[in-house]
Amino acid sequence: SEDGYELWLRYHPLASTQATAYRSRASQLIMASSTPTQAAARDELLRGLGGLLGQTPRLSDTVTRDGAIIAGTPASSPQLARLRLDTGQLGNEGYLVRSTMVDGHPATVIVANRDIGVLYGVFHFLRLLQTEQPIDHLDVREWPRIKLRVLDHWDNLDGSIERGYAGASIWDWWKLPDWLEPRYTDYARADASIGINGAVLDNVNAEAAILTPTYLQKVAALASVFRPYGIRVYLSVRFSSPMEIGGLKAADPSDPQVQRWWREKADAIYQLIPDFGGFLVKANSEGQPGPQDYGRTHADGANMLADALAPHGGVVMWRAFVYSQANKDDRAKQAYEEFKPLDGQFRPNVLLQVKNGSVDFQPREPFSPLFGAMPKTPLMMEFQITKEYLGFATHLVYLGPLYQEVLSADTLVDGKGSTVAKVIDGALDRHTLSGMAGAANIGTDRDWCGSTFNQANWYVFGRLAWNPTLSARAIADDWVRMTFTNDEAFVRPVVDMMMGSREAAVDYMTPLGLHHLMAYGSHYGPAPWDTSPPRADWRPAYYHQADRHGIGFDRTRTGSDAVDQYAPPLAAQFNDIKQTPEQYLLWFHHVSWDYRLRSGHTLWYELVAHYTHGVDEVKQMQETWRRLDGYIDPERYRQVAAFLAIQEKEAQWWRDACIAYFQSMSGRPLPPGFAPPQ
Ligand code: GCU
Repeated sequence: SEDGYELWLRYHPLASTQATAYRSRASQLIMASSTPTQAAARDELLRGLGGLLGQTPRLSDTVTRDGAIIAGTPASSPQLARLRLDTGQLGNEGYLVRSTMVDGHPATVIVANRDIGVLYGVFHFLRLLQTEQPIDHLDVREWPRIKLRVLDHWDNLDGSIERGYAGASIWDWWKLPDWLEPRYTDYARADASIGINGAVLDNVNAEAAILTPTYLQKVAALASVFRPYGIRVYLSVRFSSPMEIGGLKAADPSDPQVQRWWREKADAIYQLIPDFGGFLVKANSEGQPGPQDYGRTHADGANMLADALAPHGGVVMWRAFVYSQANKDDRAKQAYEEFKPLDGQFRPNVLLQVKNGSVDFQPREPFSPLFGAMPKTPLMMEFQITKEYLGFATHLVYLGPLYQEVLSADTLVDGKGSTVAKVIDGALDRHTLSGMAGAANIGTDRDWCGSTFNQANWYVFGRLAWNPTLSARAIADDWVRMTFTNDEAFVRPVVDMMMGSREAAVDYMTPLGLHHLMAYGSHYGPAPWDTSPPRADWRPAYYHQADRHGIGFDRTRTGSDAVDQYAPPLAAQFNDIKQTPEQYLLWFHHVSWDYRLRSGHTLWYELVAHYTHGVDEVKQMQETWRRLDGYIDPERYRQVAAFLAIQEKEAQWWRDACIAYFQSMSGRPLPPGFAPPQ
């Protein structure tokens, strides 16, 4: 069936002559399968080769023919041990895939220090076949640059998903721990295929019940499914759990009873799940309880949990996503103001998990100024994979360019080249602990993600967490080939379409640095006029500040001075309207409608032009897709076409609504050449 369930692990027969050539390189397989991870790796290889080549290699103990594949660790394979390959740099998760001679025969070896590296190597090798790469002279050496590569599932215990647009939670809490859905294994395969090694199972707006013995049994059952695939389980925990399920009067982190409760809870978890990863915590944010309720700091709260987990090797991922009504001045400043002074106060097993921007997963935000500002604390990236502000399930928006833009941004904190990627992979400040999290877009929909193209966002997140310097385009190219076809006539236009899709969404939603114009609550569709939200910082006007003189949030030194949260050279740049990149113009400046942009046109003209261009881009995407009928199965083809039609309608809705509203402010006529909204 062509319902997208297989994701990028399709393993459908390769049509080309490549298959014949590949078969001669897969004549025999020498591979142990005595541990669960070894078995998973061998099963995957046999499944992949069987599907792609229509035949599986013969299993053997020794190399007796040309074209053998030998996979394993020096410990699991005497043949590989004899080769004495240099696996030093690979660590626990890296691998080599190499063409070499073994016992007088040309062979392909997949070698790692640990079983999990072998599994990752197998997925890499299969990817080469899926994307029809030459495999005769392989010399691949891969290892992850980031240690914790984690999906954050915002899944509630009732099966609903916070900001989920692909059905219900795939965790069937009612049937766990006794029934293990086969889907859990397929989930683990998909994660492992892109190097994801952690899963936070529950919503950051956590329920205390997840830490009750009943639920911990269920969590342990999931952990047992994921373990062979190298995936550790983590839990979001509610800071007030000692009160809700522990019978304590308070959750004050300096209270010895509270500390003991968490220690005992951690001990109980590790009894059930010896490789449990740790806790993710949203505290004192959007109404969640936290240490500040007791006059303590985020560090006090995080350290208490860290101390409970430390004896077992667990970590705390403490979120920096905090803002409150009290902050009348500029919500974007609050996280930095609260956390920067705490640098150096966290235990070594605490990571601070920072959203990519300082507001909230907008179509475009400058990188959060916390990156680079806390050298003594390992900062973890938090991206959103689910498209809360980017058109939910239907809009085709490939997030690779967004992730890459953030990761490659230069913080300048330590001279040129101090990129966000180097902050989070630990290189800049020499942290061994490092991490990248993505708020997952996975649900019970047959295609997992609500649309085929949303699968690409899960995929690119994993690949960039493995290596944050990879190119979004190269990853899209792999994904298209694995997901659809290797036919160049299809691959090229589709990759181009994906690469342009994020900028298109920025243009038809929030161009030129605008942000948070979405409808209150749902975050779907435009509502720049909406004054109904009960809090000022939930009203779009708080962010766009449009009036008859101009538009934009003044974050310069004469405004909120958020610019000075960046390193001095960057602060100076953002403070100066002439030097500010136009994509961030209205993020940092309140600008007159008649201000001339680099194009020579006025701001009002450019605003209308960007909105219109966004709609045109979506029309172009539809045009591209129309030309590609027949290259892939009709099921997925038709759904993409239908979703693009929805996207076009809604891009138009965004454009017309925003232009009409802002025109009521600017009082300017539509520039010549732009048809009035219908
Ligand atoms: C956004 C989102 C919430 C979510 C929050 C968070 O504000 O709308 O649903 O809980 O982010 O990341 O904690």
